[in-house]
Amino acid sequence: MEAKIVLLPGDGIGPEVVNAACQALETLAGVFGHRFHFEEHLIGGCALDQQGDPLPPASLQACRRADAVLLGAVGGPRWADPQAELRPEQGLLALRKGLGLFANLRPVRPFPQLLQASPLRPERLQGVDLLIVRELTGGIYFGQPRGRDQSGDEEQAFDTMRYSESEVRRVARLAFSLARSRRHKVTSVDKANVLETSRLWRQVVETVAAEFPQVALEHQLVDSAAMRLILEPASMDVLLTANLFGDILSDEAAVLTGSIGMLPSASLGEDGPGLYEPIHGSAPDIAGQGLANPCGAILSAAMLLRHSLGLAAEADALEAAVAAAVAAGARTRDLGGTLSTSAMTSAICKRIQPG
Ligand code: IPM
Ligand code: MG
Repeated sequence: MEAKIVLLPGDGIGPEVVNAACQALETLAGVFGHRFHFEEHLIGGCALDQQGDPLPPASLQACRRADAVLLGAVGGPRWADPQAELRPEQGLLALRKGLGLFANLRPVRPFPQLLQASPLRPERLQGVDLLIVRELTGGIYFGQPRGRDQSGDEEQAFDTMRYSESEVRRVARLAFSLARSRRHKVTSVDKANVLETSRLWRQVVETVAAEFPQVALEHQLVDSAAMRLILEPASMDVLLTANLFGDILSDEAAVLTGSIGMLPSASLGEDGPGLYEPIHGSAPDIAGQGLANPCGAILSAAMLLRHSLGLAAEADALEAAVAAAVAAGARTRDLGGTLSTSAMTSAICKRIQPG
């Protein structure tokens, strides 16, 4: 098949890991006889520097015309001034909103050979296979009003957490339908003992659960869910969460895999292109040194093959190549090894095999 993939390398280690994922996709296309056309565009801090806009209109338009989008990372200390009006992260948020990507899928499955890389005891990690489904275009990230005002002689700042029934319903339906092809369990995370949005969330999730009698639903408050992720992560299957809770819990869950550098994500909407990105950030401390772990980006490319291009066998082959490289002892520095980004990428690419 032919497909058009927009690359948004972004900032920090973004260009290095996107380059690695692109190489893996090229290798895979050769092995399976596909043709992928890549087109690179600006997002984040580099877009801000070059065009004064963290998501230039040309980037969004190109994404809309693509079959899928692969993103590296945005942000860094250069653009972290709290007084700044424009920030790199706004580019990513505008892209998610602009493409209608309401669901963010973050699978967490530790590699058996990397159990030692996690600070948790290996027996806690046995059987961990989580899928975090995070609502991505609502909640406190986008609620209005937000801003600052003056109260007496001091300044105040405020954000709004807002969810509509339909926003909860569509992401919940996706979580339940994904649970059907897994272990048939959804843990819905909220703060219903305090927040009005969480009480609506719970109510809507209950009605969606009734449409999926094969899937068991449990509710869990976000504070105890954070603890359970460390104490008994294997007891959960699909974790359904609102935007902010999912952001926090997915970084916590990354600890289970030994390195945040291993984790991929997919952001999906009703239709149109999906957005694929490693969940790690721009890691400015190691940017440009060839030290970044490319696995999160390469595994994101596998999700792209599966979810946006319908190439399930190819996605399996790419995931198998990463697993085989790790099993053979290939390790970047974050995993306790010495391989550079490009050496790790080669170790993976040479293991890409058809079916
Ligand atoms: C993530 C990131 C983003 C988020 C930032 C960079 C805006 O932390 O994808 O988890 O908060 O969603
Ligand atoms: Mg995050």
